[in-house]
Amino acid sequence: MSIRYDEKTRQLVLETAGTSYIMRIEETGYLKHLYYGPKVGQSDMTYPFRIYDRGFSGNPYDQRLNRAYSLDSMPQEYTSYGVGDFRINTITASYADGSRCAEYKYESHEITDGKYRIPGLPSVYDNGDNVQTLTVTLADTASNIRVRLYYGVFEDLDIITRAAEIVNAGEGTVWLRKAASVCLELPFGKWDMIHFHGRHCMERQPERVPLFHGIHTISSGRGMSSHQHNPFIILCDRGASEDSGPCYGMMMVYSGNHKTEVELDQFDGVRAVMGLNDERFRWELMPGTSFCTPEVILTYADGLTQMSHNYHRVIQNNVVRGEYKLAHRPILVNNWEATYFDFTEEKLLDIAEKAKDLGIDMFVLDDGWFRNRNDDNAGLGDWTPDRRKLPDGLDGLADKITDMGLKFGLWIEPEMVSEDSDLDRAHPDWALTAPGRAPMMARNQLVLDMSRRDVRDYLFDAISSLLKNRNITYIKWDFNRPLSDVYSNAVPAERQGEVPHRYYLGLYELYERLTSAFPHVLFEGCAGGGGRFDAGILYYSPQIWCSDNTDPISRLRIQYGTSFGYPQTTVSAHVSASPNHQTGRKTPLSTRGVVAMTGAFGYELDLTRLTEEECGEIREQIRTYRDFESVIREGRHYRLSGLEDGSRYFCWEYVSRDRGRCLLSIVVTDPLANGPSIHVRLKGLIPEAVYSVGGEFECTGSALMANGYTFTQLTGDYPALQLDIRKV
Ligand code: GLA
Repeated sequence: MSIRYDEKTRQLVLETAGTSYIMRIEETGYLKHLYYGPKVGQSDMTYPFRIYDRGFSGNPYDQRLNRAYSLDSMPQEYTSYGVGDFRINTITASYADGSRCAEYKYESHEITDGKYRIPGLPSVYDNGDNVQTLTVTLADTASNIRVRLYYGVFEDLDIITRAAEIVNAGEGTVWLRKAASVCLELPFGKWDMIHFHGRHCMERQPERVPLFHGIHTISSGRGMSSHQHNPFIILCDRGASEDSGPCYGMMMVYSGNHKTEVELDQFDGVRAVMGLNDERFRWELMPGTSFCTPEVILTYADGLTQMSHNYHRVIQNNVVRGEYKLAHRPILVNNWEATYFDFTEEKLLDIAEKAKDLGIDMFVLDDGWFRNRNDDNAGLGDWTPDRRKLPDGLDGLADKITDMGLKFGLWIEPEMVSEDSDLDRAHPDWALTAPGRAPMMARNQLVLDMSRRDVRDYLFDAISSLLKNRNITYIKWDFNRPLSDVYSNAVPAERQGEVPHRYYLGLYELYERLTSAFPHVLFEGCAGGGGRFDAGILYYSPQIWCSDNTDPISRLRIQYGTSFGYPQTTVSAHVSASPNHQTGRKTPLSTRGVVAMTGAFGYELDLTRLTEEECGEIREQIRTYRDFESVIREGRHYRLSGLEDGSRYFCWEYVSRDRGRCLLSIVVTDPLANGPSIHVRLKGLIPEAVYSVGGEFECTGSALMANGYTFTQLTGDYPALQLDIRKV
């Protein structure tokens, strides 16, 4: 039993293998947060809260003679609003009389086996394993709003998921203006926040900052989880490192507008609120209806490595679905950086033939295959092949590629429409555009209104008719601009604040229909690279194109940041040409190979232009990848260098499940003449086992972990090395 209620202490206790999460139903009815952290057993956790009379922090009416009792200083599971808690809040609503206050008090709770589901939204699922759900219902009696707080407790995984459902049990309409998923309180300690910021071609750059007094906000209002701010943060003790120290992770299972606020308050307590971005949000909650927030995945771990492993495990096993969840992913070649829009069928077949010869599994045809698509100004929306480029159509090409013994994959960008397309000419009202305004254009395209059923039906039919060709076994689902001018022609004026979220409810519904109808197709997410690299997309597509930047040195930084929250199997990475098309940097083929072997591996360059020597090297890379594929896919990933080392080298390691095999990789980004040795301590090995290190020498796991390994001088342009370390 991972959840219990202790009547004596009025504590609701959630327990995982290594953690406890404890809340208390106060005599006043407020649901107080007491503790989240390492397991504490059957303890009464009310003792740390020796409460003071806090000046200018008032008291609830029935506690008016108890000046020390204030919502403004009490850690809570979900906040009230406008009634004396002046910190960041989880929910704001306004009622027919214009008032906006809410005071949520405990009404009931229920403990059930299995994991709750959230209708219409992706969420962590259980595999029939050790999972329980706690549902606590809070009520604001004046407005008759109920809030159901859901806690999914994954005992074996050290994971707690949270979501909230807001129910209008009254007679009048309620306007929700903010509805966060979670409030996490850390009343004691000194904390740093790590967040993952970036831009197109440089996603998920970790930044670690000490919290200052005030509010830190990490958010996206771009209609996508975004290149700029990933919906994932870590709160860690100021002294926490990869190996030890308290670390809390908060990750949203959502792909649209999000917001995380972290407040260090006047009493040095930390409150973190994560959920939908409230900026353009306004939801009409009719009597008798409810609103469900997206889910947040929480974890507590000792050290950043363990925290990452908790996320890797839950995403790999309980978020990603379908046939490819645990399966080998095909090594692919994508024609984008080889040809861009300028190709003929003959050219594609030449690349495919070479791919087959090199040992590649799949050929992926990227953008430019459909009518009127010779650059990025036209054609999106009309998903019929361009017969000038593909005289035998898509089916003809797919058949020819399949006949070579390769799989065939295809790029699409379903959510978009070009002004210059038959679709836009036929349905100008299907694109998001605000009345009376010329819309912002990005890549000269508009976004389809995914909140509309007719739009989704059109897309379902269009994509289904492509996928009816059973030779298409992979789809790269792209999304190449942010949402602006967000206005739906199918929604009344007073409900326009619902459109950004309804967009994602629509997108997820379409994804669900397509992935259920075509279970054998491998879907890869993409949004100008990694602009929607989030757990919401991973629920439908097991891998995501990590970045449009294929420069291996930039990728080291991007993939390093990505590894904090997301498992290597979800990271799609390709070897591309040198000089690199994004940065102009020249790097050796070997370095490009080492960096791309992080998960879903592939190539994205004109294979027909390779020298014999390069072909030999690629054959060797493919052999190495196949040899280590299961270690990379199923094993544990360890970061052996930190941000401080990143200006000189990046080093990481994969260790097989049974810890018998390890792939140690390093790329030197600044080879110093006569510099200090690069020395790393390995992790995750069996201490008493003897390992062969690259066939050079043998020693115990404990020696490699305690005394480490020193790289002999690595020189040249961005040199890289992979070492095969295996138990003898
Ligand atoms: C985006 C993707 C690229 C490529 C182009 C095609 O930028 O991230 O990989 O597919 O679109 O237009």
